[in-house]
Amino acid sequence: MSDDLIEIGKKKAAIKAVEDNVKSNMVIGIGSGSTIVYAVRKIAELNKENNLNLKCIPSSFQSYQLILENGLTLASLDQFLEIDLDIDGADEIDKKLNLIKGGGGCLVQEKILASNSKKLVIIADFRKKSESLGENWRFGVPVEVIPMAYTPIMKKMELLGGKPKLRMAKAKSGPLITDNGNFIIDVDFGIIQNPMELEKKLLSIPGVVDCGLFIKMASKAYIGQKDGTVLVI
Ligand code: 5RP
Repeated sequence: MSDDLIEIGKKKAAIKAVEDNVKSNMVIGIGSGSTIVYAVRKIAELNKENNLNLKCIPSSFQSYQLILENGLTLASLDQFLEIDLDIDGADEIDKKLNLIKGGGGCLVQEKILASNSKKLVIIADFRKKSESLGENWRFGVPVEVIPMAYTPIMKKMELLGGKPKLRMAKAKSGPLITDNGNFIIDVDFGIIQNPMELEKKLLSIPGVVDCGLFIKMASKAYIGQKDGTVLVI
């Protein structure tokens, strides 16, 4: 797969989503990952050109920096209990707009923003769309856990039929540490028939902070296609 086609897909989806959904005086949740970078640049451009008075709430250290670097106004959930629009990427999007997120390790804050938003709009390239979760995203469901509980949690994941793997850091020995000081376990459940039930089971395990299954949260997805068009579902 050409990297250029993927980047064009991400960029076009992000730009169209921003053009269609961003309005003046909005409080906007900013997701994390590589696709959101294009969206933040476009939000900043529109904000500057049209004096939109936007406020942006980050979902990670990455998006905190993106907001500042692009000259946008940083805000928090303490100031604004309700977000007008949350824009974020995804690792997989099924036909019902259920998602797997957390490939970039920021799923907890991303889910907090999504759950406090009137509207969650997803931006992604063509690789992310599938019929059922687990079909195209083969790295498993990211689960953020309290470090002292990771071994028993991995055993419990196996009992649920999953293949758990502790996510390791790059350029550091040992596990990846999230923005919250936790570990991430990626659990391969194969094709997930009932994501809502699986989410409930995962969240009932003590020590699990949250998981990357986002069920019935997204309102719309903008998916950049190989031919340069953007599919909106
Ligand atoms: C980070 C995420 C990202 O939104 C997801 O991994 C998509 O990233 P990208 O835009 O780089 O494909 O959930 O935790």
